[in-house]
Amino acid sequence: MKLRIGCIPGDGIGPEIIRETGKVLERVADKYGHKLEYTEILMGGASIDVHGVPLTEEAIAAAKVSEAILMGSIGGDPATSPWYRLEPKRRPEAGLLRLRKELNLFANLRPAVLYPQLAGACPLKEEISSRGFDILIVRELTGGLYFGERKTIEENGRLKAIDTLTYTEDEIRRIAVKAFEVAMKRKKKVTSVDKANVLDSSRLWRKVTQEVASSYPEVELEHMLVDNCAMQLVKDPAQFDVILTENMFGDILSDEASMVTGSIGMLASASLNDSRFGLYEPSHGSAPDIAGKDMANPIATLLSAAMMLRYSFDLKQEAEDVERAVHAVLDKKYRTVDIMSEGCTPVGCSEMGSLLAAEI
Ligand code: IPM
Ligand code: MG
Repeated sequence: MKLRIGCIPGDGIGPEIIRETGKVLERVADKYGHKLEYTEILMGGASIDVHGVPLTEEAIAAAKVSEAILMGSIGGDPATSPWYRLEPKRRPEAGLLRLRKELNLFANLRPAVLYPQLAGACPLKEEISSRGFDILIVRELTGGLYFGERKTIEENGRLKAIDTLTYTEDEIRRIAVKAFEVAMKRKKKVTSVDKANVLDSSRLWRKVTQEVASSYPEVELEHMLVDNCAMQLVKDPAQFDVILTENMFGDILSDEASMVTGSIGMLASASLNDSRFGLYEPSHGSAPDIAGKDMANPIATLLSAAMMLRYSFDLKQEAEDVERAVHAVLDKKYRTVDIMSEGCTPVGCSEMGSLLAAEI
């Protein structure tokens, strides 16, 4: 089978982790007789350096004709990078937001899993971490505060900034359906997170989610306020299966959930529309402080590529092979610096890629 992949290496550690992921995918393709066809797409700082903008029309067109997009990471250090002296809509992140919107990638799936081999890195007390957890955050990605009208105006000689939080019932329904669909393949529990004690958009969120739930009688639905959810994630993460939430809450809670796994360098993500198309990227950022030093952990990107094989190409066995390779390398106690612990062998990004490829 031919796999046409748009590839966005991006900034910081992006190019390294993409390169190592490529090594493993090459082995998978050889083993199963697939042909990988990459189109490199510039986005973020890498695009600003060449074109002056974080995403060109040509880049969007190239993304649209791919079957899936594999992305490293974008952005730099706002304190030092010249990209952040540009106006907000020309900064690296604006490219990613535009791409999400252009490709209608409304469903962001972010698994937060505690790997048994890495339980020692979990910052929670052992009595909590020993219960393990496997959470899937389903974050709405093309609505809410991120895409509402925003402006800064002057009123009576004072500046005033306005951001708008809007959700239509259709936007809520389609992401809720996605959450219930994935819950059906998991432990059949959805925790819908909102701020319904304050926000109208959250009250609509609750109403629509409740309606969607009636079509999935096997799935248990609970509603939880976002501040309580932030607390529950550190107190008892094992209670969660699927967390369904809006864009901004999902941004914050997914960072928290990944941090409690103790290994943000391991966590994948998929951003999907209502066809088979998806954009796959690690949950972590571009880590400019370690870029080019062969220190990054390529596993989150590789696991994102596994999600790509599964969701966009329907290649379940290939995806499982990749996931098995990750477990095998961890079982053999090879670790990049972010997940290093006593008694393990430290390896760089490139060696980690080779070790993973050798397991396919
Ligand atoms: C993420 C990131 C982005 C977001 C940024 C880079 C715009 O934090 O994917 O979580 O806020 O969505
Ligand atoms: Mg984020």
